[in-house]
Amino acid sequence: MKIAIPKERRENEKRVAASPDTVKKFVGLGAEIIVETGAGIASSFQDQDYLDAGATIAADAASALKDADVVLKVQRPLTSAEGGPDELSLMKSGATLIAQLAPLQNKEQVADYAKAGVNAVAMELVPRISRAQSMDVLSSQSNLAGYKAVLDATAVYGKALPMMMTAAGTIAPARAFIMGVGVAGLQAIATVRRLGAIVTATDVRAATKEQVESLGAKFVMVETDETGEDAGGYAKEMSDDYKKRQAELVFEHIKKQDIVITTALIPGRAAPILITDEMLAVMKPGSVIVDLAVEAGGNVTQSKPGEVVTTDNGVIIVGHLNVPSRLASDASSLFARNLFNYLTPMIDKESGALAMNWDDEIVQGSALTRDGKIIHPLLIEGGN
Ligand code: NAI
Repeated sequence: MKIAIPKERRENEKRVAASPDTVKKFVGLGAEIIVETGAGIASSFQDQDYLDAGATIAADAASALKDADVVLKVQRPLTSAEGGPDELSLMKSGATLIAQLAPLQNKEQVADYAKAGVNAVAMELVPRISRAQSMDVLSSQSNLAGYKAVLDATAVYGKALPMMMTAAGTIAPARAFIMGVGVAGLQAIATVRRLGAIVTATDVRAATKEQVESLGAKFVMVETDETGEDAGGYAKEMSDDYKKRQAELVFEHIKKQDIVITTALIPGRAAPILITDEMLAVMKPGSVIVDLAVEAGGNVTQSKPGEVVTTDNGVIIVGHLNVPSRLASDASSLFARNLFNYLTPMIDKESGALAMNWDDEIVQGSALTRDGKIIHPLLIEGGN
């Protein structure tokens, strides 16, 4: 089995889909690995590191991809309409493409995978069952994003975070507020606590209260009988009454905050607005918000994708794109491990070839196309 690792070509993408560690593991299982030259540079992996791990280096994407049975990528292939090389056209019919493919936002491209005879797997759709935890790219990347969001906040915050008692006087501790405590939010709480801030957090899912408190932060939440969680454990959109009461609560609380990290997402919908113009107007000058939901529309009315903006009253709003890629080396290592863990159960021990188990719940949840057809329930008519 030949596995190709092309260089990622999308803007703001520094990650790579294999690390020297996973290359070594794949080689140990009998696979042949071809890495496009320079694919790992932005993640601090040199061609020589991959060579030492047992890979061969290809001079360009075309030669890396042409005979590959499996193509591992971080993001979906670039198309010629996006200023390509058209990466899909470089893959052979019958190849398996495994990456974060954002299929629901790019349905036409999924049809192209089918037309090209490429079996495509979207890693972000791997079901969140315990057996698949080690394959969960959403968790591995969100965890790093939560950590980095805190560092990005401190980089533009003009004060220290911990209380400091010095001969020249005392510095008050910063107050940090984390809105949305999924994987990213929990890591943000832990990180900002380590830096000495006084931390509060909120979420619509009542189950998060205990998690927040176990990390030593205080939970702030609307008193309600309404459940904020759907059957899959994800947040759902709340009623207008809930949203109004949440806004009132946040309005009072946010006046006293120095650092706010927002991470709230609702699967399949635009991110909910949690911080309005009215709330921004009462925040302290010099306070900092990092909007981790900026790519999904944003949790803050005035955040701008890819920009750091300052409001009229001096609140700094950070809207960096692709935050996991800002920690490219670690993000790549963990992403690569997620891909390795997905693939290994499907490598035939005798022949060393890929043998997808199409009946497996994990494959059924994540495979988009098979033998020229779109097969994912979310993408075929009648799916939901
Ligand atoms: P996410 O990235 O989809 O959303 C982030 C957070 O925003 C969530 O906690 C959500 O409840 C919250 N949120 C949404 N709307 C909000 C609002 N209006 N106000 C305040 N907060 C709001 O979440 P993530 O990190 O993907 O986690 C989602 C669920 O998946 C959780 O229940 C988590 O425990 C679970 N999970 C399960 C895993 C497994 O079993 N393998 C692995 C990781 C997460």
